[in-house]
Amino acid sequence: MALKLKLAQPHPADAEVDTLILGVFEDSGLSEAAKAVDDRSGGQLARWMAAGDISGKAGRSALLRGLAECKAQRVLMIGLGESAKFDAGRFQKAVGDAIKALAGSPARHALLCLTGLSVNGRDAGWAIRQAALAAEHASYRYTITKKSSGDNALEALTLLGDDAHAGQLEKAAAIAEGVRLCRELGNLPPNICTPAYLAEIARGIAASHDKVTVDVLEREQMQALGMGSLLGVAAGSGNPPRLIVLKYAGGPNEQRPYALVGKAITFDSGGISLKPGPGMEEMKFDMCGGASVIGTFVAVAKLGLPINLIAVVPAVENMPDALAYRPSDVLTSMSGKTIEVLNTDAEGRLILCDALTYAQKYEPQALIDVATLTGACVVALGKFPHGLMSKHDDLADELLAAGEQVHDRAWRLPLWDDYQPLLDSGFADMANIGGKWGGAITAGCFLARFTEGQRWAHLDIAGTAWDEGRKGMATGRPVPLLVEWLSSKA
Ligand code: BES
Ligand code: MN
Ligand code: ZN
Repeated sequence: MALKLKLAQPHPADAEVDTLILGVFEDSGLSEAAKAVDDRSGGQLARWMAAGDISGKAGRSALLRGLAECKAQRVLMIGLGESAKFDAGRFQKAVGDAIKALAGSPARHALLCLTGLSVNGRDAGWAIRQAALAAEHASYRYTITKKSSGDNALEALTLLGDDAHAGQLEKAAAIAEGVRLCRELGNLPPNICTPAYLAEIARGIAASHDKVTVDVLEREQMQALGMGSLLGVAAGSGNPPRLIVLKYAGGPNEQRPYALVGKAITFDSGGISLKPGPGMEEMKFDMCGGASVIGTFVAVAKLGLPINLIAVVPAVENMPDALAYRPSDVLTSMSGKTIEVLNTDAEGRLILCDALTYAQKYEPQALIDVATLTGACVVALGKFPHGLMSKHDDLADELLAAGEQVHDRAWRLPLWDDYQPLLDSGFADMANIGGKWGGAITAGCFLARFTEGQRWAHLDIAGTAWDEGRKGMATGRPVPLLVEWLSSKA
């Protein structure tokens, strides 16, 4: 259940909440709101600080009770680090840490005073929107196939701020819904979240939103279109493929749409080029590109942006089987280009190339694909930025700037033609893998061969789509980046 969010500007000591969330800096001490509370309580916060119960170090927090002259029974003090270093990343983390620190406590309704802080280079509206998103993110619990942990959870959060920013809160709610859907789909196990399941989700979205329609193509229709590359990947799975096409008509009819294409391999076993066992379970997240495109689509529809948007999601399972495609097979893509399969585990590009070709029939103003495409991207960039590749500097700059704005950052890799010969094949127009080096880029170069003449960019989210480890969850990225970019177009 989503957190109930609202804006208000009471004196924190008079707020009708059970918990106050206050910030304290390592160097400059109590924040403004914390000082106001301290004054009212006769210096209690300062005494706690002197006694060492409250620390301003980044990442520290303390939940304390018994503040005199305050309506709230408890106060959560959040360490913010040095004031000069208090930037977008620290702010977002401080809000998330605060919500997590309250999990399991009796707190039900809190006043978040961190929104009153000034964040380097950002304004008050930004702080309110990002705080709402960070709070929603931190309060997310996966419960579909696991009973909730029994943790008490915060029900309502009031953000300290002027009602003039109510629009930012609404915007945050729409984005949060897209992020939540993306995470929920990503976290679902692959025996539930099949291509057919994703198609049903898309149908549900169309049924419940204005100006939204959906087409779902099945195997026969894809055969008729000549999508031999996508269908090659699908051949080894008992879960038949779907090509999901969501259409949102928020702009004038004649306006060319934006098109998003998202890889949705509902499980990537590697196929005949089988992946090693350890960690294979993480390949349920290999549909996060598709999930992020669906999440972005929902956020755009909720926001009612005055643009036209197409989301194309090729949904396929990659499995080994008697009928599975094999290394050395040659596939003919919808574009007519032939592809020699040298590794069935490089399947993402094989479903994307046909989806990218299909998307071009809508003559998009810009075409963006999002995919958990290569382990090499994680080697190159780690788990913080998405890998961004594009031949269009202006488009790349727009996407980088959108990511900075909402702290959902990308980093650009080159797409130089120098890499193209690495895809040469003796038996087809190209091979589906490059050489030993630059795997994220050669994957991008493969896609570039199917997007000629398009204003196209590729986001490799292999490192950013989910958190590592046994309890790692889908992150919902890059929904914030994409919604920000599309909003800037509206
Ligand atoms: N889905 C994987 C990429 C991936 C791997 C994402 C690990 C996140 C974490 C993709 O389909 C894949 O298997 N790529 C291969 C490509 C290789 C065979 C050229 C890879 O990265 O190893
Ligand atoms: Mn693979
Ligand atoms: Zn994959």
